[in-house]
Amino acid sequence: MSNLRIFNIGLNYLRRGQANDLDFLCSLTNATILNLLVIANNNFGGEVPKCIGNLSITLDLLALGQNALSGTLPSSIGNIINLQVLSVSANNFSGSIPPEIGNLKKMKQLYLTDNVFTGEVPHTLGNLSMLTHLSMGNNNLLGTIPSSLGKCQSLLALDLAHNKLAGAIPPEIMSLPPLSIGVDFSMNNLTGELPVEIGNLKHLSALDQSGNKLSGKIPSSLGSCMSLEYLYMGDNMFAGPIPSTLSSLRGIRELNLSHNRLSGQIPDFLEDLDLTSLDLSFNNFQGNLPTGGVLANTSATSVLGNEKLCGGLPEYRLPKCKSTGTSTNGRVRNVSIYTVSGILAIVFMLSLLCFLWHRKQRKTVASSSSNDQFLKVSYQDLLKATDGFSSANLIGTGSFGSVFKGFLALDQTTIAVKVLNLDRHGASKSFIKECEALRNIRHRNLVKVLTACSGTDYQGNDFKALVYEFMINGSLDEWLHPQVRTSPEREVIRRQLGLLQRVNIATDVACALDYLHHQCETPIVHCDLKPSNVLIDGEMTGHVGDFGLVRFMPGATRELISELTSSIGVKGSLGYIAPEYGAGAEVSTNGDVYSYGILVLEMFTGKRPTDDMFSDGLNLHLFTKAAFPERVLQIIDPLLLQESHDEDDGLDIRRTRRSHDRFLKIQECLVSIVEIGLVCSSEIPSGRMSMRDVVAALQAIRKKLTGSLGY
Ligand SMILES: *[C@@H]1O[C@H](CO)[C@@H](O)[C@H](O)[C@H]1NC(C)=O
Ligand SMILES: *[C@@H]1O[C@H](CO)[C@@H](O)[C@H](O)[C@H]1NC(C)=O
Ligand SMILES: *[C@@H]1O[C@H](CO)[C@@H](O)[C@H](O)[C@H]1NC(C)=O
Ligand SMILES: *[C@@H]1O[C@H](CO)[C@@H](O)[C@H](O)[C@H]1NC(C)=O
Repeated sequence: MSNLRIFNIGLNYLRRGQANDLDFLCSLTNATILNLLVIANNNFGGEVPKCIGNLSITLDLLALGQNALSGTLPSSIGNIINLQVLSVSANNFSGSIPPEIGNLKKMKQLYLTDNVFTGEVPHTLGNLSMLTHLSMGNNNLLGTIPSSLGKCQSLLALDLAHNKLAGAIPPEIMSLPPLSIGVDFSMNNLTGELPVEIGNLKHLSALDQSGNKLSGKIPSSLGSCMSLEYLYMGDNMFAGPIPSTLSSLRGIRELNLSHNRLSGQIPDFLEDLDLTSLDLSFNNFQGNLPTGGVLANTSATSVLGNEKLCGGLPEYRLPKCKSTGTSTNGRVRNVSIYTVSGILAIVFMLSLLCFLWHRKQRKTVASSSSNDQFLKVSYQDLLKATDGFSSANLIGTGSFGSVFKGFLALDQTTIAVKVLNLDRHGASKSFIKECEALRNIRHRNLVKVLTACSGTDYQGNDFKALVYEFMINGSLDEWLHPQVRTSPEREVIRRQLGLLQRVNIATDVACALDYLHHQCETPIVHCDLKPSNVLIDGEMTGHVGDFGLVRFMPGATRELISELTSSIGVKGSLGYIAPEYGAGAEVSTNGDVYSYGILVLEMFTGKRPTDDMFSDGLNLHLFTKAAFPERVLQIIDPLLLQESHDEDDGLDIRRTRRSHDRFLKIQECLVSIVEIGLVCSSEIPSGRMSMRDVVAALQAIRKKLTGSLGY
């Protein structure tokens, strides 16, 4: 079949783990335009034939994981030069990892975990400048971690856990700012200090280096890793105190420093961090144990095996601390008296200031008018906030204006400012009226409108702008189609959206629409739902934004239709607009449901409704419908499929073989989600679901999915 593009027989029970099971692969070498080859999750055995290197160079994705394959990985694999995703996880591959993998310059995700690979990590991997995920955990790898990995400038996740790697952690790897998902070096024989360069990893959310022989002090630069949520350093030989800089790890959830040689006091700032688990056991900490925060929860905290600790909650069974007053000598007592009186003086002054300030506050509150409950900003404020509406701050342009990122010094907040393009007919018409109404709708999945600005610019022209809260993770569109790059700064932390994240965001958008359609006094139609209007915050929650076309139901008129059709000229909007609008139908909530259906199909197939392939009557809905339900897996975004084989975030620390049941469940969920997308994007408005039913259905799917992903 020389025109074959996709060959996917994953998730079956094919073969019985015998030699030569994969000989059939050689017959695929005649498929000269093959893109995707998946045989993962079967019972294939034997060795991978050398002809694998004769597969077409058009191959993007090759997944052999979760089988019973053995022998070495042929070096000829280095011939498939356009490969972007390669997974051979969870097999019995032995021998060394072929250095020829370094020839695969387009490689983005490489999964070699759960095998018995031995030998060294090839230096040539440093040639893979586009690599985002590198997983080699659970093998028998020897030697040192090559410093050349520091050249993988796109790396988001690195897993080298459970091997026999020795030597130091190369500082070059700790200088890769994109590392954000996680770094796992645990259970090796690494020695030396944790490099101070670790402070460069400002976006890193998990670091596991437990079970090594690392020594020296914990570098204070670790406090610069402000995104850390999970930090595991247990079972090493770290010494010295906990650096005070760790107080800046505001997002930290779990901290494990157990079984080291750490000493000094247990710092008070641990009380203020939002920890759910704290393990300081078996060190040499001394002095008073604080009692607040996570330390108040004796089942979340362990301080066992620290002989010189005292105080703390009675449950910890530590001795009482010796009171400092009784055992001190005269000099110390004098000092403490001075200190106490000094503190008293400061407290007195502070309370005086507070009192004065309150009086002033009361006066100003009384004198200000009552209709000023919103942040007020002027043209000048916005000019300053956006650096003169500079192109460096431009984060998007749409039919009705341009959006700039800005920083309001006054409130110390980062904002997004949409400046309306007043040349455009209709843009300013109901501007203030809409703003007023928008102020009254509030929902966690709608982008918050902070204020509006209406005035004149320095040239005396009318100036109108809307000020929104800024969404740090940009728009869903950028996440689904990462080649659309608006800001280099954001690109650095770009990651792939996982299955569960996509389901969550689809649910967020559905909740927002359900609110607009069913829970507001007058139903509200958004009219312009598309991925570039779904914005994502720091917690990966979706927010529907851009109400430029929003309509309140009773006032819906034909005027809007002309507005809509005139914006069709703008590339990207076409494809999401309900077909009945084109035929002159009035605006209704059903139209939003259509756009939502298309959005869901786009989220899970990875294809835009405006893709070049959709012409001559073929569209995203029909394309999906043709594959539904038996062949749904073949039209799913291939990266998503890969991911379901390799855990939701590509870095599962204690990986085990996944069962077929789980994948069947994931497959079922995908079918149900695609079905929602199809029903919502029905040609006939009355055939679509209501957003209320969509929310309920998605929540059920999510529940099933989280059960099967083992969260
Ligand atoms: C590939 O195609 C050629 C010509 O059609 C044929 O002779 C050959 O047997 C095919 N090879 C495989 C491995 O199927
Ligand atoms: C791969 O292709 C080359 C060149 O066409 C050929 O010489 C070689 O025999 C092939 N190898 C296998 C294992 O099919
Ligand atoms: C690939 O990596 C090796 C070893 O790090 C290096 O010697 C070689 O020059 C690299 N090749 C290219 C094309 O960058
Ligand atoms: C205490 O910690 C345990 C285990 O981490 C957790 O399940 C529990 O909810 C915590 N209790 C409180 C009151 O936070």
